[in-house]
Amino acid sequence: MTYSFDKIIDRRGSNDLKHGVLLERYGRSDLLPLWVADMDFETPPFITEALRQRLDHSLFGYTVVPEELWDTIIRWVHDHHQWDIRREWLTYIPGIVKGIGMAVNIFSKEGDKVIIQPPVYHPFRLTPQGNGRKVVYNPLKRLPDGNYDMDFEQLEQITDEQCKILILSNPHNPAGICWKEETLRRLAHFCYQHGILVLSDEIHSDMALFGNRHVPFATVSEEAAQCSITFGAPSKTFNIAGIVSSYAIVPNDTIRRRFYTWLEANELNDPPLFSPIATIAAYQQGETWLKEMLDYVEGNIRFLEDFFQQHLPKIKPLRPQASFLVWLDCRGLGFTHEQLIDLFVNKAHLALNDGEMFGAGGEGFMRMNVGTPRSVLLQALLQLKEATS
Ligand SMILES: Cc1ncc(COP(=O)(O)O)c(C=O)c1O
Repeated sequence: MTYSFDKIIDRRGSNDLKHGVLLERYGRSDLLPLWVADMDFETPPFITEALRQRLDHSLFGYTVVPEELWDTIIRWVHDHHQWDIRREWLTYIPGIVKGIGMAVNIFSKEGDKVIIQPPVYHPFRLTPQGNGRKVVYNPLKRLPDGNYDMDFEQLEQITDEQCKILILSNPHNPAGICWKEETLRRLAHFCYQHGILVLSDEIHSDMALFGNRHVPFATVSEEAAQCSITFGAPSKTFNIAGIVSSYAIVPNDTIRRRFYTWLEANELNDPPLFSPIATIAAYQQGETWLKEMLDYVEGNIRFLEDFFQQHLPKIKPLRPQASFLVWLDCRGLGFTHEQLIDLFVNKAHLALNDGEMFGAGGEGFMRMNVGTPRSVLLQALLQLKEATS
C-alpha cells in the first residue's frame, strides 16, 4: 500500500458539514457522523501539493482555464469508462445539484413534471420542487434478494405529456447500484420516444466495487446519447467536494447549444482558480490512490457485513456495487421510524441518513457512510451493538 486510510483526521475547526450541523439536524452534537457523502480520508497528497504550489504564487487574480483540464477529463473518461467524448461536449459546471437545478430551469417550465425513481438522493426531489416543478415518482422495484430494478410498467403508467425530465442516479445513491446496460438502454428508448430529457448524475461512477462496472448512460445507444446530459466530477472519488469541480457532457447539438449558451451567458461555465488544478492532479496522478481507496472501502464493507451477521443479524446491509455508502435494511428490528431514529441517534449516538429522506421504499432503512478509517467504523458498530443489547 502506498497510501494509508487508517489515519484519523480531526475535522473540527474546518467548518466541515459532517460535524457542523449535527445539533441543527439531529438535535445533539455528541454523535459520530457517518452521513453526508464525503469521506473521512485525507485528500490525496498529490492534490494538496498541486494546490499548495499554486498557493505559493501568492496572487489569486482572474485566471484562464488550462486546456489541459479538458484533455485530462477526456482521457480519464476514456480510460475508466471507455467513452470517447469530444472536447465540445464538455463544460465546467459549479456543482452537480446546481447543474440539475439549471437544467431543470432551462429544459422545463413551472408546472412541468420531473420523474425520479426513489428511494433516491433527496435533492432529485427537492431541486425540481423548489423550482415549482411537479415531481412524479417511479419507485424502484425491490427484488427478493434485496437488490433493486427499474419498474418499466409503472414508468409507462405515470408518464404523460407534462413529463419533460427524468433524473437518473447512475450509479444509484443510496443503494449503490451499477445499472445494467440493458436497463439503461430500455430507459433511454422510453425517454427518447416520449421526448424526456435524462439528467444522468454519474458522480459516483469512478467507484465501482467488487468487480462491478459502471456503464455511462449516454454510451448505451444512440438514443441515450441524443436525449441526455451527463454530470460527472472527481469530487466524491478524491474527496474534494469542497473544491467544486464538476462537469457536464452533452453529445446532442441542440440540447448542448441551449444549455451551454445559457451557462456561458451567466459565466457559470467558468471554473474558479483551484478547481482545474485539483481535477488535473486527481485525474493525472490518482490511479494508485483510487485503487487503494476502493480496496480499503471494500474491506470496510466486508468488515461491516461480518459484524452485522455476527452481532446484529436483524440489520441487513445491501452490498453496494459502487461507492462508500451502505444501505442498511433495518426492518427486521420491527421499529417505527421514530424508534429507529431514537436507536441510532439517542442510544447509539450515531448520525446516519435515515432512509425516509430518500423517499418511497426508504422506510425502515438507514444509509451508512463507510468512507472512514476502520477504527471509526468499528467504533460506530460497537456503539450500535451496545445500544441494541
Ligand atoms: C448522487 C449525488 N449527486 C450529487 C451529489 C452532490 O454533488 P455536488 O456537491 O456536486 O452538488 C451527491 C452528494 O452526495 C450525490 O450523492
